[in-house]
Amino acid sequence: MRQSHIKRLAYSFASFTIVATATFLSITALKGSPSPQEMTISTPNLGKTIYQVHCAPCHGSDGKGDGFAASELNPGPRDFTSGKYKFRSTKSGSIPTDDNLKQVINNGLHGTSMPGWKEFISGDSLEAIVTYIKSLSPRFQSEQASTVTVSDPIPVSEKSIAAGKEAYDKLQCGECHGADGTVKGITATDLADDWGNPVMPANLTESWTFRTGSSPADIYLRLKTGIDGSPMPSYEGMASEQDLWNVANYVSSISRKPVWNMNPVELQQYYASLESSHKSNPVERGKYLVAVFGCDQCHSPADGDRKLMTQYRMAGGQKWTIGPYGDFYTPNLTSDKETGLGNWTDEQLRNALTKGIRKDGSRALPFPMPWTAYASLSNDDLNALIAYLRTIPPVYNKIPEPNQPNIFSYLWGKFEMLILKNDHPLVVYPGNAGTTKSTSNVESTHPSIASTTGKKENEQ
Ligand code: HEC
Ligand code: HEC
Ligand code: HEC
Repeated sequence: MRQSHIKRLAYSFASFTIVATATFLSITALKGSPSPQEMTISTPNLGKTIYQVHCAPCHGSDGKGDGFAASELNPGPRDFTSGKYKFRSTKSGSIPTDDNLKQVINNGLHGTSMPGWKEFISGDSLEAIVTYIKSLSPRFQSEQASTVTVSDPIPVSEKSIAAGKEAYDKLQCGECHGADGTVKGITATDLADDWGNPVMPANLTESWTFRTGSSPADIYLRLKTGIDGSPMPSYEGMASEQDLWNVANYVSSISRKPVWNMNPVELQQYYASLESSHKSNPVERGKYLVAVFGCDQCHSPADGDRKLMTQYRMAGGQKWTIGPYGDFYTPNLTSDKETGLGNWTDEQLRNALTKGIRKDGSRALPFPMPWTAYASLSNDDLNALIAYLRTIPPVYNKIPEPNQPNIFSYLWGKFEMLILKNDHPLVVYPGNAGTTKSTSNVESTHPSIASTTGKKENEQ
């Protein structure tokens, strides 16, 4: 268990290092190469040279969006060979103008790893890199950019913002961005872009994450053009000009201050409001606690690739062998009355969670269930955990009786650990060790799962 946590930490650290290195290399490379002023347009293949040094680490040497840092990035770098661009002033489906490309290259894209290059690439170099990127897709030879018409803005006013809120609902922006723009409670949670990467709709109350700007005019333009390659549609012809300007004014009005601009009083109020929204919903709070404590990582079976078997989430059935202490099975925490927690009282749950006392009154060891760590949970948190456990739909999964190590193997185990300094191997078995409605008998089921997948995982 512990090792897989460490692996995950090491992995995120490695990812961070790769991305930081790519950005650092691509920017410091500028300092070693001739300065933009020194590079003249007469340099053959100037655009290609700049590209290979500064852009290829992310966008790939052939422009396919597959540079060495790409796999670590979300959103991923653009595939220039597709000729499809997100942030344009042109109609949905059209190629961008040169100015659109220059703007992105100059300013970068907020909230993504795409840096702004204004201070490094300008003049002839900027022209050259734009020409080079365009050469990577045949669309720029055969098509013309077709810009959208921009109508006169409607000035920001309370009236326009109120009309914008109505238009926001009418145009169903909330399906993706949430009724209040915070993305909370949306149903469209598995959106993907045209390149197959998962994308999240923007949180409209955090306007500093908008890629190219958050003024009403910026937002209006996004609504007219859509974000090609992503699920964000174009509203050109779908909504009146008034509606679009009003929505833009509304969206720009609902943004909150970013934390780095808040004074200490505002910071305190902000975090207190987060806290109270948690407190006002114990089930949500409990769900969150289960996620951070990783209860489901133990209390659900995992397949041979260590992926949780989602149909048995929280239904227990993971089996481990821990050195001389013997076999352990994780119990079913769903609300099933027969095999789960369905007919436990709150008091019994509190005792199990904070004192390691089982329902029949017998005692669990202080491991693997980390109840000693939960002993200091506040009453509110404990109630929230229980409230959430009560909402987990019943799943029938009968778990074998817990093993009670005898005193000699327990003492021998402790002696080995403390005196002989031998760590015990932990064997984690793939598959569900419980009996479900479709299986009949634990003894015959489990060994066959272990032997058909043929995998045991050794972890310390
Ligand atoms: C550290 C990684 C990284 C480097 C280096 C990088 N980019 Fe990007 N770039 C990205 C990412 C990520 C995106 C996509 C962001 C998104 O989809 O919101 C992107 C998108 C773009 C886009 C597409 C914008 C659109 O409207 O779709 C252009 C153009 C672009 N980059 C040009 C460049 C150029 C030119 C260079 C080199 C001078 C460069 N990038 C260097 C990460 C990088
Ligand atoms: C089908 C889902 C969907 C609908 C409907 C939708 N959006 Fe979006 N929206 C997205 C996604 C996904 C993104 C992020 C795209 C990206 O960055 O690649 C986004 C991004 C945005 C952005 C950020 C633009 C930027 O510069 O980064 C704004 C503002 C926005 N949407 C406003 C709206 C408004 C207003 C409406 C209704 C008129 C709307 N959206 C409807 C999915 C949707
Ligand atoms: C490291 C793995 C692990 C983690 C993490 C874990 N548990 Fe457990 N849990 C177990 C094991 C193993 C048992 C069985 C202990 C015994 O009876 O010997 C158990 C027992 C229980 C029991 C008693 C159920 C019964 O039928 O006896 C409850 C309730 C419980 N866990 C809830 C939780 C909750 C809630 C969390 C998260 C806050 C959690 N557990 C986190 C492994 C874990």
